[in-house]
Formats: sequence, structure tokens, C-alpha cells
Amino acid sequence: MSISRTTSLRVAVLASGRGSNLQAIIDAIEAGQAQAQIVAVISNKKDAVALERARKYGLKDLFVDPKPFAGRPDSREAYDRSLLAILQQHEVGLVLLAGYMKIVTAVLVNAYANRMMNIHPSLLPSFPGLDVQKKTIDWGCKLAGCTVHFVTEGVDEGPIIIQAAVPILDDDTPETLAARILVQEHKIYPRAVQLFAEGRLRVDGRRVLIEDAKPGGVAIVSPT
Ligand code: GAR
Repeated sequence: MSISRTTSLRVAVLASGRGSNLQAIIDAIEAGQAQAQIVAVISNKKDAVALERARKYGLKDLFVDPKPFAGRPDSREAYDRSLLAILQQHEVGLVLLAGYMKIVTAVLVNAYANRMMNIHPSLLPSFPGLDVQKKTIDWGCKLAGCTVHFVTEGVDEGPIIIQAAVPILDDDTPETLAARILVQEHKIYPRAVQLFAEGRLRVDGRRVLIEDAKPGGVAIVSPT
């Protein structure tokens, strides 16, 4: 499926925590490296630093409390229906999950098929889920990294858009590795947004083909 070029891409960012990826996207937009506008920053956590960042930049910040939905058999879907209403109200064209620690349901996935991205701190399909930097070290991997992918119903399973790899050092802790990966997250997420904004992403089954991508061919080897 080809994704049409959008002249003024309206983006919503969903975040639960500190929002450093949100910040990277804000910075890229301000630097003219991502042709998009953030029309809403939404969180399921009232105290999310991401919401503070949004306010600092005059962006619309919204806390959507999951509590009123709890206890219903369709609590997750009902929550997502309320998010969807907000996204539609703001005419959002691209949804970015950026440290959004809530599993999205078919309600959002279907409405934003191939228009919702997530960033994950591993080289998917290795290490989906949580605590992945620790799991990557414990497994004995020599390379770790991060992935931006389109969101499907399976957690961390959607078609991969862009990845970056970093070495794992012998004295790495989950924290030092996470910090090294994060530097790359902040590069590849804005890049994925810009590729989308330019209409250069084409989803073909599990593969995301990038129009006019620069030829690669350079290996990342660790240890060198
Ligand atoms: C990032 O490392 C992101 O990849 C990860 O949470 C962190 C959020 O940081 N996301 C996941 O693990 C999702 N499965 P941030 O709030 O500073 O952007």
C-alpha cells in the first residue's frame, strides 16, 4: 500500500513518560528536518514529563485518564475509542507512540493502519516487550539497537520502517546501553516521520519499501 504525500502532516504523539523522543521530534520540526506539526500530545499518565514538554512548546497537551474505563469488559477498547475521537477531532494524519506504555487495540490500529508508528529499543523482531536492554545484554548479544515500525495488533510486531544498531560493551549495564540506544532513537524517529511526510514509505506485506533510499551496503560490526 502506498501512503500518499501529505503537505501539512498533522501528528499526535502518545507518551507515558519522560518524552525524550517527543523532544527529538519537536527539535527536528523546529530545525526544518521534519515537515510536520504536532497537533496534540496525549498521555495516559497525568504527571508524564512529556505533557510538561508539550506545554513548554505551546502544544496541546491532553491527559486521558484510564480510570473511568477500568472494570468494563471492553475497558481498553473504550479507552481507545475516546482517544480516536480526539485524534479525529484534531484531524490527525500520523500517530506516534513514543514511550507509550499501553497496548493499543484494534480500535486505533484499524483506524490508523499504516499511519501509526512506534519506537522500540531493540532490533526487532528480537526482544519485543519490556526490559529489553537487560534481556539483550543477558542473552550475550554483541549488537543492540532500536526500531521504528508501523503499529499492528501484535505488540512490537508491525512492519519495520527504520532501524539503528549500536555495540554492546562488556561493561554495559541496562542503563548505559539504554542511553546509547536512545541517542539513535532520537535520530531515527524524526527520520521516519520525515519519510512519511514525504510520502516515501510503501508497505508491501511485512516490508516497508522506501522510495529513493540511499544505497547502503556498509556493515556495522562489533567488535571491530
Ligand atoms: C524509549 O526508549 C522507547 O524506545 C521505549 O521507551 C522509551 C521512552 O523514552 N519504548 C518502549 O519500550 C515501547 N515498547 P522517552 O519517553 O524518553 O521517549
